[in-house]
Amino acid sequence: MEPNIPLLELVGIRKSFGGVAALTDVDFTLNAGEIHGLVGENGAGKSTLMKIIAGVHAEYQGTMRLAGKPVRFRSARDAKAAGIGMVHQELSIVRDLSVAENVLLGVQPLNRFGLVDYPKMTRIAGEQLQRLGIDVDPRLPAGALPLGLQQLIEIARVLFSGARIIILDEPTSALSPPEVERLFDLLRRVRDEGHSLVFISHFLDDILRVSDTITIFRNGRRIETAPVRRIDKRWIIERMIGAGHEELEESYTGEIQLHSRPDAKVVMTAEGLTRPGMFEDVSLDVRAGEVLGIYGFMGSGQLELARALFGKLGLARGRVLLDGRETHLVNTAAARRAGIAFVPESRRDMLFHMEPVFKNVSISILDRISRLWVRPNAERTIANKHVMSLQIRPPLVDRPLGTLSGGNQQKVALAKWLTFLPRVLLLSEPTRGMDVGAKDDVLKIVKSLRAEGIGVVVVSTEPETVLSLADRILVMKRGRIAREFADEVVSKDRLLAAA
Ligand SMILES: Nc1ncnc2c1ncn2[C@@H]1O[C@H](COP(=O)(O)OP(=O)(O)OP(=O)(O)O)[C@@H](O)[C@H]1O
Ligand SMILES: [Mg+2]
Repeated sequence: MEPNIPLLELVGIRKSFGGVAALTDVDFTLNAGEIHGLVGENGAGKSTLMKIIAGVHAEYQGTMRLAGKPVRFRSARDAKAAGIGMVHQELSIVRDLSVAENVLLGVQPLNRFGLVDYPKMTRIAGEQLQRLGIDVDPRLPAGALPLGLQQLIEIARVLFSGARIIILDEPTSALSPPEVERLFDLLRRVRDEGHSLVFISHFLDDILRVSDTITIFRNGRRIETAPVRRIDKRWIIERMIGAGHEELEESYTGEIQLHSRPDAKVVMTAEGLTRPGMFEDVSLDVRAGEVLGIYGFMGSGQLELARALFGKLGLARGRVLLDGRETHLVNTAAARRAGIAFVPESRRDMLFHMEPVFKNVSISILDRISRLWVRPNAERTIANKHVMSLQIRPPLVDRPLGTLSGGNQQKVALAKWLTFLPRVLLLSEPTRGMDVGAKDDVLKIVKSLRAEGIGVVVVSTEPETVLSLADRILVMKRGRIAREFADEVVSKDRLLAAA
């Protein structure tokens, strides 16, 4: 290849969905052997541009050149054949296939009879996963694994597919800090072997650490591209959302003084909750008007604990009291009747992608009051109010939910609970996939719910999330509560040290 010709070059890209512009005149260049970081607000157009490169969107205006030659992909298969692989933001793992089949999807080794060579496939998949530091039986069904492992398996599939261009759309959202470290080491190695990578993330520290070049998107336009050595976090935030917002991100990284509320009424008590293999002997109190953070690495049991508190997972031992009365959380209906609400980490489970935004917001209302009460116009009015206050974009409640960007879908998931307030609100990974501005919106929502006297429980594998939201923090380790932080100064380092 000639030295001056970039590996991939896009010029004047435009793309709209039903008359709404998602990309406007975007130029984008990816050089050979670089890690190119992409940042921008929710809905800025990052995934859309990458889906054009990966052949998912075949309809667009503008030109794409691969090693100097114009290309036009009609399908993801076309792009794959040209050496482009993408890990999508929403997991696309095939739950019923084995781990090995997922890792080697489309490139399964065959034996001399032309049939899939299972022993060989299992061995190759096992070796590739080892390189990512994953120790899992490749014969297990992928759907049975925790989210973090599923994410790593998808990454392995694309990373070892031999693709020259590898696009990772928010690949670390479900990973623990050590897993992220291992992934970054591997990305650097893959780059040094001559591959080019695009890395999309809302974690600005990560973007700064792993990228060689950074491009900022805003409102469907490319704002600026610069080598990483010339820029810092403040520079990025200024271009992402404008000057004067630098303190947003700072608040997640500094030292935090916690303030518990020992005099407030206890709304929920858990005693000795146990589910073998997931969590053991967990006891805790949640007070009115308090945000209790539960932090732990992926697989430490906190996400399962939250599901158990919502009646989604049965308990082997232990009891739960609400306002001092023992409550049997035999299923989610019982939990809701008791006044518990839950926003899970996986949006796929609770939202209806084909339905309009307003229907998704009003689902919790329909649960609570007679269907006869609800008229579509009333539903729209309520949804509209939340869409405005949460700054959901685009602010169009009649659009199918599936057409919103990832971060905006998460806001819809929260909006569901704002009309009829629960006693206890369980939030699992509430800001996963959100840009700094959207995270700040969630922070405001949680604070206003706290001011209403609701007990809020935030469980997360992201230290930043717990630090920015919680008044008191429990750290879980291998299914047990390892430490409590209350009325003291805490930082990311201290949380990690306890986990
Ligand atoms: N399939 C689709 N149909 C209609 N509109 C879409 C579709 N996909 C994306 N959009 C719209 O295009 C715009 C850009 O979305 P995109 O998913 O590219 O954002 P993003 O930068 O990846 O955001 P996030 O950080 O939240 O993932 C948004 O306004 C979104 O609503
Ligand atoms: Mg996206």
